[in-house]
Amino acid sequence: ARITYITNTDESITLEAFSGSLMELAVQNGVPGIDGDCGGVCSCATCHVHVAPEYMAIVGEPEEIEMDMLELNDDVDEYSRLGCQVQISEALDGITLTVAR
Ligand code: FES
Repeated sequence: ARITYITNTDESITLEAFSGSLMELAVQNGVPGIDGDCGGVCSCATCHVHVAPEYMAIVGEPEEIEMDMLELNDDVDEYSRLGCQVQISEALDGITLTVAR
């Protein structure tokens, strides 16, 4: 799937992947603003992204444990997800993710 990240400096980075999480893809490719400090176990929120609204139904809502972590973040909205909790599949092809502040 082709995945586009929009960074905090409005840079657009499009990557291609078939597996792994949205956090892993970003970290492996040095997308600024996605650090993945906890290694993907839903306890740091340094992988917070805003999903393009039209893809939210495909990506799905966060689980409760993820929601608890997101709510600690100032930049949270209804399109917020932790990148480590979203697995890449072909269904996500063409998605745009805005890196949270
Ligand atoms: Fe830590 Fe996603 S990498 S919450």
